[in-house]
Amino acid sequence: MSRVAYVNGRYAPHGRAMVHIEDRGYQLGDGVYEVWAVIDGRISDAARHFDRLERSLGELSIAWPMSRPALRIVLAETVRRNRVDYGLVYLQVTRGVARRDHGFPDPPPPPAVVVTARTVDRAAAEARADKGVAVISVPESRWARCDIKTIGLLPNALARQKAREAGAAEAWFIDELGLVTEGAASNAWIVDENGALRTRDIQANILRGVTRLTLLDVARREGLTVDERPFTIAEAKKAREAFITGAGTLVLPVIAVDGTAVGDGAPGPVAKSLRRLYIDEARRNAC
Ligand SMILES: Cc1ncc(COP(=O)(O)O)c(C=O)c1O
Repeated sequence: MSRVAYVNGRYAPHGRAMVHIEDRGYQLGDGVYEVWAVIDGRISDAARHFDRLERSLGELSIAWPMSRPALRIVLAETVRRNRVDYGLVYLQVTRGVARRDHGFPDPPPPPAVVVTARTVDRAAAEARADKGVAVISVPESRWARCDIKTIGLLPNALARQKAREAGAAEAWFIDELGLVTEGAASNAWIVDENGALRTRDIQANILRGVTRLTLLDVARREGLTVDERPFTIAEAKKAREAFITGAGTLVLPVIAVDGTAVGDGAPGPVAKSLRRLYIDEARRNAC
């Protein structure tokens, strides 16, 4: 089946969907994005992603390209046209098209919008989660506003590539204090030696992951001890379990950090159970 993309007011065949060469996203990375998980053909955690989009747009003084309900319809329509039952829907909003100049164009052009959706192989994703993945650590090399979900992802792309070349699935950034911030495209978690769930607090320079937030709700509901406190790579290596979260990975067990097995080197019971509970919750709140 051929894929369809939404670009600035039109649905177009994916291979022929185009943006202008002077789109500021293309020229300067001047834009933001969101990714929602699609489960049973419905969009999961919709409101929380929209809230974060509002924040990202606001921080960069980019106007909403259309109302939230209208954007919601475009997302759903893109999912429908691509017949995605289980997968992802991607939204990108840039400051729009203008002659190349670093300062904002005045008057502001209309923001440019792209939406795509794709199917994820559910069986392959489950098999990957059953096996667990390895992560490596890399020095933090990003700017000071990682709370904004900007399309400027070069350090993340370089880190992810380094992980891939090392046979790992994700790279964890380590800040100047030796603490894990987050992954190249995910938040980082451990179950520490005392059995508490640990993940970096949102005062740190990280993306405020929606999956992270919803999983914190789920974990608290389950009566788990949650500690939004940083951890080092040494602590991760000594942890009972580790895992990552994101719209793309949901909850994915980590079985090795920088080549050292975490726990017994297999996905742990807490991560496995949180993955199940998270998917149930994501399915329940999808609309
Ligand atoms: C740097 C970074 N951290 C964390 C996440 C996880 O965020 P979410 O759970 O909202 O997908 C992502 C997702 O793309 C990311 O790029």
